[in-house]
Amino acid sequence: MKGTKITDGIYRLGVNLGGDSLFEGMWPIPDGVSLNSYIVRGDKTALIDLVEDVGEKPAEFEQAMESLGFKPEGIDYLIINHMEPDHTSWLPEFARRNPNLEFYITAKGAAVLKAFCGIEKNVHTVKTGDTLDLGAGKMLTFYEAPNVHWPETMVTCETSSKILFSCDAFGSYGAITDAVFDDQLSTEQFDFFMNEALRYYANIVAGFSPFVVKAIALLKNLEIKIIAPSHGIVWRENPGAIMDAYSRFARYMNGPAEPEITIIWSSMYGNTEKVATAMIQGARSEGIPVHVYRTPKDDAGFILASAWKSAGLIIGMPTYEYRMFPPMAGVLDMFARKKVMNKKALRFGSFGWSGGAQKELETITEKLKWDFMAPVEWQGAPSGETLKLAMERSRELAAKIKAEYGK
Ligand code: FEO
Repeated sequence: MKGTKITDGIYRLGVNLGGDSLFEGMWPIPDGVSLNSYIVRGDKTALIDLVEDVGEKPAEFEQAMESLGFKPEGIDYLIINHMEPDHTSWLPEFARRNPNLEFYITAKGAAVLKAFCGIEKNVHTVKTGDTLDLGAGKMLTFYEAPNVHWPETMVTCETSSKILFSCDAFGSYGAITDAVFDDQLSTEQFDFFMNEALRYYANIVAGFSPFVVKAIALLKNLEIKIIAPSHGIVWRENPGAIMDAYSRFARYMNGPAEPEITIIWSSMYGNTEKVATAMIQGARSEGIPVHVYRTPKDDAGFILASAWKSAGLIIGMPTYEYRMFPPMAGVLDMFARKKVMNKKALRFGSFGWSGGAQKELETITEKLKWDFMAPVEWQGAPSGETLKLAMERSRELAAKIKAEYGK
């Protein structure tokens, strides 16, 4: 694994977690994810963020350092933008190798540093506007960015180059192989990383969207030239592209979202499945994008990203023992945790001897402010009339979304 020069004295070190890992122990990353760290060398040398202590990753990280002529013992300062272990779990070993290392971190971060790593010595707490002069024209300025992603998070800017080390903000899933910078991406790769950025955002950051908006407002005044996040591509040609994308992702919480519909359906014995087909057909008849997922077959991480950006949601599930079908209840619980809010919604589903799913759905989504259409429910097998009604109602939802959010 080799490091990459960004500009004179500033370098990226990156390792990839493989596609068989689950990010945060639960999110599928079939195309991997990169863990990025950065070195800024003045008269003194700072390392910004570290790496996860998993498998061979610390060895690969050290190899990348060596490829640029650095070693752990030669680092003067460790800047800890964020204490989540994907960036810090190798820290106890790194600090053991370098007992004179000094740490720069927010006050909230210092408490977490002690809790995770038992480190209290040589810790400097910083707040927005504080600086660290590395000499030779390199100066780091710190900005608190609470809740992007944890409450202790900060971002760091190298003042002379105007490179922002943005930590989780502006990050994406997707392993980094040959292309490190946005200007090295083909159109296909660019679209891939934008999609992976949305999925990363929906999985990791979505619930904190109001804080993302605040952080972007702060950063817009800094005239940033390059965005160097802790996951994904380094944006040196067009940092505005990822900043605008994150502004858009944050906006989806309160709307307007995209004029699209996500249909998530589940079925026990095929009766709800028959109506799902009619629902899909009706929604597509208005010509807007319609994304279809089945639970429990499809993972909630993918469903979440699609639902987050869609103005309309159609939820198909039967009643199960007077309540929601359990796999769908799991998806909706995730929606509530991640604050999938302000959607136009429609539910359909069968019941055997009694309904109940709709009531529970409306209760658990109350705080999410979904605007529900009348549900399509039936006992037993769906009749031709039910199929017709389903098609008509989903078409009506699509027409509403097109009229309200269409460009
Ligand atoms: Fe990449 Fe919130 O850690």
